[in-house]
Amino acid sequence: MRKFHMKKLNSEPYYKPEPWTITEEAFKVETNHHNETIFALGNGYMGVRGTLEEDYSGPEGTSTPGIYINGVYGSEQILYDEEPPQQPQKTQTILNLGDWTMINLHLDGEKFDILQGEVDDYQRVLNMKEGRLERSLSWTSPSGKKVRIETTRLLSFTDQHLGVIKYSVIALNFSGTIKISSGIEGNVKNYYHIRGKKAVKVIDRNISRDNGYIIQKVDSTDITVGISIKNQLETPSDAVEINNFIKEEKVYQEFNFDVTEDQEIVLCKYASFYTSLDGKEKELKGKTLTAVKDAAQKGYRQILAEQQEYLANYWDDVDVQIEGDLALQQAFRYNALNLLQSTGIDGRTNAAAKGLTGEFYEGHYFWDTETYILPFFLYNKPEVARSLLIYRYNNLDKARKNAERVRVDGALFPWRTINGEEASSYYMGSTIQFHIDADIAYSIKQYLSVTKDDDFLYDFGAEILFETARMWASRGSYIELLDNKFCINEVCGPDEYKPGVNNNCYTNYMAKLNLEFAVETYKKMEREAADKLKQLIEKISLAEEEIKSWQKAADNMYLPFSEELAVHPQDDSFLKKDPLDIDSIPDQELPLVANWHPLAIWRYQIIKQADVIMLMLLLGEQFSIEQKKANYDYYEPKTTHDSSLSPSMYSIIASEIGYREDAYNYFIQTARLDLDDYNENAYKGVHLACMGSAWMVLVQGFAGMRNYQGQLHFKPYLPEKWDSYQFKIKFKDSRLRVKVSTEDVYYQLLSGEELSIIHNKKEITVDGDGIREKLRKID
Ligand code: BGC
Repeated sequence: MRKFHMKKLNSEPYYKPEPWTITEEAFKVETNHHNETIFALGNGYMGVRGTLEEDYSGPEGTSTPGIYINGVYGSEQILYDEEPPQQPQKTQTILNLGDWTMINLHLDGEKFDILQGEVDDYQRVLNMKEGRLERSLSWTSPSGKKVRIETTRLLSFTDQHLGVIKYSVIALNFSGTIKISSGIEGNVKNYYHIRGKKAVKVIDRNISRDNGYIIQKVDSTDITVGISIKNQLETPSDAVEINNFIKEEKVYQEFNFDVTEDQEIVLCKYASFYTSLDGKEKELKGKTLTAVKDAAQKGYRQILAEQQEYLANYWDDVDVQIEGDLALQQAFRYNALNLLQSTGIDGRTNAAAKGLTGEFYEGHYFWDTETYILPFFLYNKPEVARSLLIYRYNNLDKARKNAERVRVDGALFPWRTINGEEASSYYMGSTIQFHIDADIAYSIKQYLSVTKDDDFLYDFGAEILFETARMWASRGSYIELLDNKFCINEVCGPDEYKPGVNNNCYTNYMAKLNLEFAVETYKKMEREAADKLKQLIEKISLAEEEIKSWQKAADNMYLPFSEELAVHPQDDSFLKKDPLDIDSIPDQELPLVANWHPLAIWRYQIIKQADVIMLMLLLGEQFSIEQKKANYDYYEPKTTHDSSLSPSMYSIIASEIGYREDAYNYFIQTARLDLDDYNENAYKGVHLACMGSAWMVLVQGFAGMRNYQGQLHFKPYLPEKWDSYQFKIKFKDSRLRVKVSTEDVYYQLLSGEELSIIHNKKEITVDGDGIREKLRKID
């Protein structure tokens, strides 16, 4: 049997397989850090890690609280030892903001601490179906007082500025005094990247009987954040003593009251967040205070109901069902929830590599968005795909400046960013990946073919396409010794282990697509939107000659192919690099990116992540099955999959070429990566691109879906271990359901116009009655 390289999988899933929930059955210090990520909540605007409401007394390094707002970042001078010119000068780092979740409980003076006394019946449950986190436990204090504690936490999707916690306590075996304190802690820090400095400070704060707030300022970026809370306490008696405190950067309220055995008290805490990126700084206090008042008036139950309704609609759009493997079913829902939780939809923010679940990668947005996250939204919630592309449009001016920096024309999008500027100080792993421009152009093309949203193309897309085409036209050259072909030298493809190469195959093919699509768009606008084209030509001073030069570059693009090996060389030098058997690398030295000097890596034929193989997916119609097979056979044994963006691509192509066992094994590594913590780093935040790619594996790998020139193709099969799977797709004006079972596949139109699709190379029409077709045999 062919050998393939993947990290060891855990035999047992960390969380028991359940369809709609993720359950933690015991609180343990050892798993706390991981669970803080797994139980993180988000709503695209903000995120909160799954830290406890109460103070945590565990050992240092086992907890990193995190409250993030998408797009709120701090910045500091990058320190270069030997500074090459034109380097980015400033970092951008997502910041940990005021902790509004803090609630502490005292029973007759004894403070509830989950690591003291005795905890029974503990459960923490992420309710994915309805979008909330619930925790319940019984706690017996060291002196023997027992309470039942139940908490619910949610970040609202219908009002992205709102968070709510319901905290309920029942005295089980005593009558006495309870004290609950609830507030906002503004003295917070980042755990990575900020070099220990305090990046945000509280510039205003107050608390009264009715509410409390803090205003935090990020000096380095001048962003201001307002956080308000309102505590609403329901106790059986009115005799509650309330004390308000302001201590340094913290504001909080203490509620003291007497309880008798079996009495329940409930605290509902409403929190609101706005920043100076949303509106005027001086209005933050007023806005957030009004918001918590309104939320309290609306009430917890209503907010919960709205959340349920929002999620019900979401699942109706995106849910994937797998019969025969509950652990994978669970993972799909977990991934889909995280994609929603982390993705900014305002055109001003985007989806960070770690979502809103951790500080790692500094909260940066990468090409991950277009290539791994956007496809999921495109076929399920195309309006989200649109806003992700609008984010790029809104940062086009900064991309133009970035292009100037490296002396190319047009626009070059940053490899790592929050605010639209390049934030990476390591250009060999970032700016050199020029392909990001083509990845964005490719996504625009995909978006158009799925939505027919020509207005988007004319108003936003075209400008991106023209500016990125300009970039390629100036970036490449006609090289005499290579038949005067248009070559793109000194780049890095997706495989970050090969920077500084000439003619990366992925890059050249994708750049060609970018150039061609820019020309096509220009011609389409000449025909259909002449006025808008005219305006755009004036705006960006576009000359007719440029369009010709794009076409010429595309027509003459150097597209590498080795007749001798019958493979597509990853770049001009790859086939001649030093061979290395990756099985000879000791496990503890992987991932190489974390252990070997770059110079020790670059010389070898070793690949970090799918590169040519990814091209085989994105531009699949340009390559034959034989070529895909040859490329897979050649590159797969050389790939370490040191990036979580890799196994999924191999899985999809393995499916296409009939290597079903590989396809499945690469897939499992993708689907439950964070839940089962295969890479032992989920505590730093989820792997959002990998989550998006699990959906790609199911739909593009197992069901074989491709969108070639606006025509949907399917070649479905059922992985041996499953009984069936099904998903929905939005395409043009239609909504399609695809169910793959042991015997056949059933395509059904759920709404919209009848759709003609290609099933196993045969054209069929799908209508409301549905149509059954035979499954694909191995080619
Ligand atoms: C991968 C990149 C990816 C980044 C963020 C790196 O390890 O090589 O392709 O963009 O992680 O996910």
